[in-house]
Amino acid sequence: MSATVVRDRAWTALLEIERGEGLETALDRALDTVTDPRDRALTAELIRGVLQWRRRYDRVIDSFARHPGRIRIGVRMALRLGLHQLLTLDRIPPHAAVDQSVRLARRAGGPSQSGFANGLLRSVHRRIEGKNDPWLALESVFQDRGKDLAGYLSSWHSHPPWLVRRWLARHGEEATVALLEHNNSPPPVELHVLPGYDPAIEAAALSAFGHDVVAGGHAASLQLTSRLTRDELGLMLAGRPGLIVQDGSVQQATEWLAAGVAGPLLDMCAAPGGKTIHLRALLPQDCAITAIDIEPRRLERMKDNLARTLCEGVAVVAADGCRTPFGDGTFATVLLDGPCSGTGVLRHHPDGRWRVKAEALEDNRERLVALALEAARLLRPGGRLLFATCSLESEEGEEVLVELGRRGAGLIPESGADGDDVRRWNPWRDGGDGFFAARLLKEG
Ligand SMILES: C[S@@+](CC[C@H](N)C(=O)[O-])C[C@H]1O[C@@H](n2cnc3c(N)ncnc32)[C@H](O)[C@@H]1O
Repeated sequence: MSATVVRDRAWTALLEIERGEGLETALDRALDTVTDPRDRALTAELIRGVLQWRRRYDRVIDSFARHPGRIRIGVRMALRLGLHQLLTLDRIPPHAAVDQSVRLARRAGGPSQSGFANGLLRSVHRRIEGKNDPWLALESVFQDRGKDLAGYLSSWHSHPPWLVRRWLARHGEEATVALLEHNNSPPPVELHVLPGYDPAIEAAALSAFGHDVVAGGHAASLQLTSRLTRDELGLMLAGRPGLIVQDGSVQQATEWLAAGVAGPLLDMCAAPGGKTIHLRALLPQDCAITAIDIEPRRLERMKDNLARTLCEGVAVVAADGCRTPFGDGTFATVLLDGPCSGTGVLRHHPDGRWRVKAEALEDNRERLVALALEAARLLRPGGRLLFATCSLESEEGEEVLVELGRRGAGLIPESGADGDDVRRWNPWRDGGDGFFAARLLKEG
């Protein structure tokens, strides 16, 4: 496949994502019929890289362009792609990076736009040519850190300014910078070795694929340190039912939540099934598990995951967790791993930081409260609600618990084995994904 087709696919996918398409769907479409593994890897890298560094590249574009406000999105996307190849990837010759982006700019806006893109990318290239560190040569395009800390951090670390301001106010400068760096670091692939499987045997099987395997952030986890494509990972996991992809902090959180729980258990927001599979392996086989989710497509993925891991004894039902078909007091335990902004897992989703909206956080809190109130109805007296989100935001954690108390949900905090009733895993302190977990007991 030609270099041109790879750039075309990446550019088209990025524009689809800009219009609201999900990353995975756009990526699948872009990779459809791309067979060469190197072309597949480069297409995925271009898409992910431009999404991740979008704001940093835009800062460069806006400072080199005379009228940045007039740049159409198709041209801007061609420029972002060009900058990613010029400034971040090290194996693309500069002339190829420039020429391919100029061609895409012409497609988006005709000859005048290709001239503009050519001029801009060549100016950037002249500025960095021969320099060891291209970013040092571009230092002056960024805000003065001393005068505009939030502006500087949001451009340099490529995050939305409102999110950076929020984190600065809540966590301070040191934690915020560590969090931003964490979100931009390549996430290691962390695998959980399910109970009943031997980590040493699993590690040996993974090493046979030629990748480096080390112990992960949890007793039963393994990390693959080399960068892997989705294809490679899929191939490696296909014959290994004892392995699921799960961050170390999520493994710890699931175990902390699950200590001493009884069945029957409802997993209320279950797809794609990581925690269901983990719980199934932790709990006795006679503990009935029902898993529901509102998204049929995600449930299909969940069924594939259950089949791959030979996970049996889980009834999978498509249902809205706010209005379930089950009677009062049906369950002894409900796990609510609820929908949220996902600000604890942004390093896995380069598109996620642009999708999170400040206004949505309060709506998310309301949705989580509605799900938890339904969970309270479904629990028998003395039953447990295990509440979790992969969010760093209090609206999707502590505030949900406060609101449940205010509305008289009849749920009281219950301490885990460590004496805490609420736990947070923070990336800047704990190193893994951000996660919030709480255990609540149904009164009565
Ligand atoms: C954080 S994900 C769950 C991840 C899952 N527990 C795991 O470990 O793989 C949240 C899920 O909530 C689902 N969801 C959102 N609103 C829902 C609702 N009203 N009822 C049930 N599921 C819902 C989403 O489709 C999504 O799959």
